[in-house]
Amino acid sequence: MSISYSSLAPGFGLRIDGLDISQPLTQEQSQAMRDAWSRANGVLLFRNQNLSPEQHVAFTAHFGDVYRQGAANNKALAPYYLPGHPEIFRVSNKVIDGQPAGREDAGTYWHSDGSWQANPPLGSLLYAVEIPPVGGDTMFADMYRAYDNLSDTFKLMLEGLEAEHSLAAAVLRTSYAKEYAGRLDEAAAKKATHSIVKTHPQSGRKCLFVNPGFTSHIVGIPQDESSAILNFLYAHIVKAENVYRHRWQKNDLIMWDNRCNLNYAVADYKKEGVRYMHRTTVKQRAEV
Ligand code: OGA
Ligand code: MN
Repeated sequence: MSISYSSLAPGFGLRIDGLDISQPLTQEQSQAMRDAWSRANGVLLFRNQNLSPEQHVAFTAHFGDVYRQGAANNKALAPYYLPGHPEIFRVSNKVIDGQPAGREDAGTYWHSDGSWQANPPLGSLLYAVEIPPVGGDTMFADMYRAYDNLSDTFKLMLEGLEAEHSLAAAVLRTSYAKEYAGRLDEAAAKKATHSIVKTHPQSGRKCLFVNPGFTSHIVGIPQDESSAILNFLYAHIVKAENVYRHRWQKNDLIMWDNRCNLNYAVADYKKEGVRYMHRTTVKQRAEV
């Protein structure tokens, strides 16, 4: 069976059919997937995949080094890793024996994963093990298109500006507050500075890199100017024309490139049923 490609939305994302990602890929298939990821503005969908945790991790390794939970990692997140599989982070509202089987409110706001880190994760691969009958969609915003659709005047103003990103903002806004109760200092200390305009190393194209989840302020300008610029950018980025909304099917795997997309987990499904997802993460490559 040959591989076929179809857009998820005009000019954005690709659905890949005709490839069983639970099986080892040939070198050609592996290269084709990396090329597709770049060509698709960083979002790929694979449907009807039966993936064990090991197979999910093996597929992830085609895109870079797979992140593993380690001793130095955030203790607040430790319960959400799949026991025996330190590469698999669980996103879920499921409770087993009174214990959460995953982080319930992961990403329930516009963000780029871990942008508060100096080297944020390159990308994530999220696999739908159980989904509710309705709701629990994931939205993606195309940060290339958001950049391209700015005027030249605005692009010029952003050139060279940097913004600070911090975990504290997201903690204050979500049920993460429970995880960080009494330890807000720890969240506030997790911060990094990034250029507002970045050039993607694979595509060579420019994209925006700010998000309402983690970006606190633009460095070196007054707070009111910073807020005005950021609020304008946020509204601009999440215009309907820039956003793809994915309605999950069981056994979907979606992968996104955090360098050129924002993502948003829509937390509207909790009365509808169980949502249980496995996520792997690709580390930022050293040369990026
Ligand atoms: C994430 C995330 C989206 C979702 O895991 O980083 O944003 O829909 N998840 O669960
Ligand atoms: Mn996310």
